Amino acid sequence: QVLQLEVDQIMKGGYEHYMQKEIHEQPEAITQSMRGRVKQQKSAEGNPYLQQRIKLGGLVETRGNPYLQQRIKLGGLVETRDTIRRSRRIMFVACGTSYHAALAARQTVEEMVEVPVVLELASDLLDRCCPIFRDDTCVFVSQSGETADTLRALEYAKARGALCVGITNTVGSAISRATHCGIHQNAGYEIGVASTKAYTSQIICITMMALALAEDSISKRERRDAIIDELGALPDKMRSFMQVQDVAMKELAAQLKDSNSLLFFARGNNYATALEAALKCKEVALIHSEGILAGEMKHGPLALVDEHLPIVVVATRDSMYNKMESVIQQLLARSARLIILCTAGDATMQEYAKRSDCQLIEVPGTVEPLQPILNIVPLQLLAYHMTVLRGHNVDQPRNLAKSVTVT
Ligand code: AGP
Repeated sequence: QVLQLEVDQIMKGGYEHYMQKEIHEQPEAITQSMRGRVKQQKSAEGNPYLQQRIKLGGLVETRGNPYLQQRIKLGGLVETRDTIRRSRRIMFVACGTSYHAALAARQTVEEMVEVPVVLELASDLLDRCCPIFRDDTCVFVSQSGETADTLRALEYAKARGALCVGITNTVGSAISRATHCGIHQNAGYEIGVASTKAYTSQIICITMMALALAEDSISKRERRDAIIDELGALPDKMRSFMQVQDVAMKELAAQLKDSNSLLFFARGNNYATALEAALKCKEVALIHSEGILAGEMKHGPLALVDEHLPIVVVATRDSMYNKMESVIQQLLARSARLIILCTAGDATMQEYAKRSDCQLIEVPGTVEPLQPILNIVPLQLLAYHMTVLRGHNVDQPRNLAKSVTVT
């Protein structure tokens, strides 16, 4: 027993809980997911190809174009890349947090690959006997690679002739073995039942997949390069605010821990941030919580708003910013108790905080496809600290298992 306790302590690496350790490990976990796959140097100055390009007076978009430098290398998708790009649609299938990761990265896949992208919760896909065709690509996202519903959906899609791609964090898992090809997350063991580092690593993997599929496209080159540059900067950006936010979220958790309910409002790819934050609050802090697409606010949820219910609004600087500002104004007009998650140094949001006595959670800015990866971190910390303060079991929440192997 004593030995087991000591082993546990060593595995927690000085942290009190696995969830806490795994939240703090995220800069390293996402680095590992990108290692050997993302090339940071661009073929800039002095590159003979670039000089030649100017002489040629234009670029022809062809496969294997030597003028386009390969910056994303995903060994597992080399042979199926063209088939995926020619698909009628790309369907992501997952459960829980893994589904949220696919939701967070969907827009990036749509933008980069220009193929219709649909998302399916594995259980619902099976309940509906959803039509799947041989020219579909189905991507199964699962941390454990053993989730029963996701595995069943994979067998279902395979039987219908779809190309099946796996994104899992477990080498040799049932899903990684049954798929035709895939990406290993490489985020390291995740032990806490609440998925944290697997989530951010899944967004990274799906984003890398989108970028790899768009590698031959000259029209996407600038945008793709901007995202790849930011992928390189992401681990340090995450590190830079982790400790400060840890302290801040502990304080916020003390204020919110006795709430009966918490709402998270967001839109665009941060809708996933809202759903994922709400799931964390439910499963570990055992607080009723909902993630709400802000575009739906006036279609019902607005009736819940009063001065008592805490609402976290995600309003980082991206294409949804103006719409989210309008949401904030409407909520403040109803005396809502707001906590605004915004980009560090955003003067407009600081002004709202001053005038309306609402709190700010400031995160570093990055390109829009990667912003959900930074945004979720303080909300994971918030859920973690609320759980500790409420005295609940952090790593083994009641009624839950790490991997759901029954349907
Ligand atoms: C997340 O915190 C949960 N533990 C749960 O939603 C989980 O993401 C879901 O069961 C899917 O698991 P998987 O990624 O291993 O398939």
